[in-house]
Amino acid sequence: MSAASSPFPSTIVVGGTIGSIVVGCKLQVLHGQPPEYRKAEILSIRPSPSADDATRCEYYVHYSDYNKRLDEWVAPERLNLLGEIEYPKIKKPKTVLAGIGKETGKGSEPGTPSGRMSKNNRKSNLSKAATTGKGTEAASSSLAVPGTPGANNKRKASVMEEEGEASQEKAEDTPSTQTLADEDEDEDMNGSVALDAAGDEEGGGIFSKEQEIEKLRTSGSMTQNPHEVARVKNLNMIQIGKHEVETWYFSPYPVEYAYLPVLYICEFCLSYFPAVKQLGRHRHKCTLQHPPGNEIYRKDDISFFEIDGRKQKVYCRNLCLLSKLFLDHKTLYYDVDPFLFYVMTMRDDDGAHLIGYFSKEKESSEQYNVACILTLPQYQRLGFGRLLIAFSYELSKVEKRLGSPEKPLSDLGLLSYRAFWSESIVTLLVEQQKAGIETSIDDIAQKTAFQQIDVLHTLQNLNALKYYHGQYVIVLSDTVIKNAERSAKKKKREVDPKALVWKPIHFTATQLRFL
Ligand code: ACO
Ligand code: ZN
Repeated sequence: MSAASSPFPSTIVVGGTIGSIVVGCKLQVLHGQPPEYRKAEILSIRPSPSADDATRCEYYVHYSDYNKRLDEWVAPERLNLLGEIEYPKIKKPKTVLAGIGKETGKGSEPGTPSGRMSKNNRKSNLSKAATTGKGTEAASSSLAVPGTPGANNKRKASVMEEEGEASQEKAEDTPSTQTLADEDEDEDMNGSVALDAAGDEEGGGIFSKEQEIEKLRTSGSMTQNPHEVARVKNLNMIQIGKHEVETWYFSPYPVEYAYLPVLYICEFCLSYFPAVKQLGRHRHKCTLQHPPGNEIYRKDDISFFEIDGRKQKVYCRNLCLLSKLFLDHKTLYYDVDPFLFYVMTMRDDDGAHLIGYFSKEKESSEQYNVACILTLPQYQRLGFGRLLIAFSYELSKVEKRLGSPEKPLSDLGLLSYRAFWSESIVTLLVEQQKAGIETSIDDIAQKTAFQQIDVLHTLQNLNALKYYHGQYVIVLSDTVIKNAERSAKKKKREVDPKALVWKPIHFTATQLRFL
């Protein structure tokens, strides 16, 4: 049944055919182990990539009241067509191409339900990718996710600045002793270029920065209206290093990659490939064994590399594409220049492997010390997020500034920050109490580099602010102290400030001229 004959505008119907299911329908869908029915909304429909039958589709569903991370493509057999089906009250059918492509705004293809994509279109996209082999290295059609609007939304791309302007930071800020890798001149580690197959090299003067960003924004899988499309995850699985990782969210990798069962990513330069063979060939050429940039911290097997978005555009854009697969609440950015990236690695005989990173605005009017933060899923819940957060505050201490993460925080971001703030503040308060020192919110902020507002909210969450004799005092309950003692006994990786070899980079006004 086509969209034209779907039962609009009626709302709830018991029982229906698979052909009547359109984007926006809500019905019971089998989910989980053991499988059980849960109410879900159909967000997108596409031809089944594996089926010979051209009419067979699969359905992208969001389970009502469940985290968006659980959204997935399901086969038609998992839809309960015998139960209640709630049809959307849409007057004009919308078109969403495969959940990743452009919104055409021209309505549905004739004869296909709203939101379906013709198999032929998909095949031609895939074969284009397969035959040209273009766009696999680095930033073709990519865009960046360094942070949310916040302070940055005023920024637009500027005309490409002179290369020479960056040289001062380089000379001043290369750490002396522990440098594993110094930043090269602009770009690139494996010959990839910032622009795509058109062959326009970065800095070549052919494109202004504005044009370059526009090109990134409008090419590939990017859409003029990301809100619809970004609801649908485009990749299911990536392979990076030794790990196969299920993705969580949409990321604007080029559209040719959307139907691949697995996207192969070089774990050192973050270039991406449709097949393991291509990755293998790339690894013969790509000599990187660690991220680009300066190694500013090394303790045991953990290192941090500082990477300037302006100098390493391709790497930073690829990092943003990768991290967008696991970050949903951040607005997309095309311009990585205004950010520094702090990439954390764990070293073994094969090299320094990416564990996670955070980005930071070079100049934040809101005093944010983190824009985006990520631990790759295969390393989560092992204390690395805590280490990244602790490191961000070590940098703030060296800068003699108070810092805070950019808002909004994700659910996991909030959990991690709350845990870190609570533990750090309680540990400090217990120490001060033992030493008989009185402490104020401002003292805590100065000692930890947390902003006062974060200290205040943490104390409120701990129920540690009591009104006493006309003023607020900080009082920790026995339970809070016991929990802190228990948590302190857990073996955790800590940041060693002595292993940090870093001076804050002061960018000149010209270097910060992003507008
Ligand atoms: N469930 C419950 N508590 C959690 C969870 C979870 N899934 N994840 C973290 N926590 C809390 C726990 O208290 C944990 O301590 P515990 O393991 O001792 O109980 C504490 O946070 C620290 O956990 P870590 O193992 O150090 O953190 P992890 O390495 O998992 O990284 C991070 C946390 C970075 C938020 C990770 O979950 C992630 O990358 N998520 C996806 C991207 C994201 O949401 N980033 C934050 C966005 S906000 C921003 O960018 C400013
Ligand atoms: Zn590589």
